[in-house]
Amino acid sequence: DWNSGNVIEEQVARIREQVGSARVISALSGGVDSAVSTALVHKAIGDQLTAVFVDHGLLRKGEREQVENDYVASTGVRLITVDAADTFLGHLKGVSDPEQKRKIIGREFIRAFEQVQRDLVAEAKAEGEPIKFLVQGTLYPDVVESGGGAGTANIKSHHNVGGLPDDLDFELIEPLRTLFKDEVRAIGRELGLPEAIVGRQPFPGPGLGIRIVGEVTADRLEILREADAIAREELTKAGLDSEIWQCPVVLLADVRSVGVQGDGRTYGHPIVLRPVSSEDAMTADWTRLPYDVLSKISNRITNGVRDVNRVVLDVTSKPPGTIEWE
Ligand code: XMP
Repeated sequence: DWNSGNVIEEQVARIREQVGSARVISALSGGVDSAVSTALVHKAIGDQLTAVFVDHGLLRKGEREQVENDYVASTGVRLITVDAADTFLGHLKGVSDPEQKRKIIGREFIRAFEQVQRDLVAEAKAEGEPIKFLVQGTLYPDVVESGGGAGTANIKSHHNVGGLPDDLDFELIEPLRTLFKDEVRAIGRELGLPEAIVGRQPFPGPGLGIRIVGEVTADRLEILREADAIAREELTKAGLDSEIWQCPVVLLADVRSVGVQGDGRTYGHPIVLRPVSSEDAMTADWTRLPYDVLSKISNRITNGVRDVNRVVLDVTSKPPGTIEWE
């Protein structure tokens, strides 16, 4: 029967065997999965591990600070942050297709890790000893939905599975590859990670990049980041965090509608709220949020976020909708 302590012991032994005395880098996204996989590998090999956090400019408000402050404080992991917003946005310029966005983001993640790998090797003057292992927080549902499981169709290329480039220069360590999210949370708690990190709602690696329907630009990211922060704040204030699996906030950047504000006509974009309840993200139902909470979020977003004049609620379950819009 399943027990987080056993899984940890088993994985620690396996990781030590796989890695030996080599050095390893880990992809940290701020989400639960990579937080737990990194902590697990850190438990196994300590200072042989360097965690890498790529700030791709597609993050939500406050995320970078949470990783750089809270996560480091609770784990003692050595962390390097890569400032890559300009690079990612440059490559995403003119791209609207969801799968293309995912491939680009997945590829640029790996390029950023390869750069860190070279820098670390140069810094340590570790001649001829490349850092050949990369830790990823891939879960079982990621594997299945990216077409990795037997007989499954490719629904989306989750950036950390189907989105990897063919010339990958790393051997992957994926200690969560057979697990579901609730199991990963149990392991995180057992490893002593704070509730603020373990209890976090899922957030996709490609970040806000797949929550802007249309081209991703710095300006649109700023709009979405504000709307998302408002929605999260109100949901938390209303005590709804544990009831909701996650609530993507989506900017329909290619859609405009007519509105009226003060005594003027507006022609702005809609924001979609997509609150869902789920056990494992494989299926989901839309969450029946209280009307007063929806109303507060809608008022604050339309009054406070530039270029947004409408807030709409997604009432589709999965299937037929996926959780994210892209
Ligand atoms: P969908 O939209 O496929 O999402 O119903 C299922 C769950 O996976 C998350 N998601 C991702 N996570 N990289 C990730 O790390 C990705 O590319 C990605 N795409 C979707 C999504 O937020 C939901 O929890």
